[in-house]
Amino acid sequence: MPEQNLQGKVVLVAGGAKNLGGLISRTLAADGARIAVHYNSDATKAAAADTVAACIAAGGEAFAIQADLTSVAEIRRVLDAVTGRWGSLYACVNTTGMAVGHPMTEVTEEEFDRHFAINTKAAFFIMAEAARRIEDGGKIVNLVSSLLAAYTGRYSVYAGSKAPLEHFTRALSKELFGRSVSVNNIAPGPMDTPFFWDAAAPGEPEFSKSMSTSGELTKIEDIVPWVRFLLTGGWFANGQTLFVNGGFSTR
Ligand SMILES: NC(=O)c1ccc[n+]([C@@H]2O[C@H](COP(=O)([O-])OP(=O)(O)OC[C@H]3O[C@@H](n4cnc5c(N)ncnc54)[C@H](OP(=O)(O)O)[C@@H]3O)[C@@H](O)[C@H]2O)c1
Repeated sequence: MPEQNLQGKVVLVAGGAKNLGGLISRTLAADGARIAVHYNSDATKAAAADTVAACIAAGGEAFAIQADLTSVAEIRRVLDAVTGRWGSLYACVNTTGMAVGHPMTEVTEEEFDRHFAINTKAAFFIMAEAARRIEDGGKIVNLVSSLLAAYTGRYSVYAGSKAPLEHFTRALSKELFGRSVSVNNIAPGPMDTPFFWDAAAPGEPEFSKSMSTSGELTKIEDIVPWVRFLLTGGWFANGQTLFVNGGFSTR
């Protein structure tokens, strides 16, 4: 398959308003893609509006759509809104997630259920519903975590609820054989966003920095080129989890 041009391509970025998802939206829009900028909470509404404006200013088309994606009905509503507006779906990039950094002895039932609702259930049905609508040659990308290749405590419920995505990705990519659709995960290292800082223990940022070749945390700018690559020239990677982390963990 030749390298894909993103001009006019329809892309849903779940969690596409801010941080990593926000930069993905803006970058793909600058390539001419039409971006559905999904967001969840009221607190993210203004960021979603800013991102939509930036996407349009960059030359793309964009609209914002709110949904709690732990509901399958809401996932269907979002994807129907995208295909209803633009008539197709080229790619779905799922950046949604949540994390607490608690020892297992301190993880509550509510935290467990919430992690598996967002990190596991939402991802499963986003992938499945995207696959129902995606065009031949399309792409599905999920964000997971480099903790999937780390030997560490404190992130049992976070890493444990992201881990199933590797199996979902293998299964769905195989089921879509013959249509040139690729399904992959990108696993960033500890990344310099509030998501990391809110969960990190004292001393963890310094340790994480020391584990990377850059001596720094992963930056959102380190990850976006890989998303872009999977959506354009990198179509032959399929069913994979790509660890993009400066060497923080390997497998
Ligand atoms: N930062 C790190 O250290 C790090 C490292 C490795 C991997 N990752 C992964 O990278 C991805 C992006 O993380 P980030 O650092 O850019 O943080 P982020 O902006 O907080 O990304 C998490 C996203 O999930 C959305 N979300 C949470 N609950 C949701 C729900 N019920 N329904 C729909 N969306 C929901 C959030 O939206 P609202 O805020 O509007 O609820 C937010 O947009 C995540 O999947 C994360 O697991 C992060």
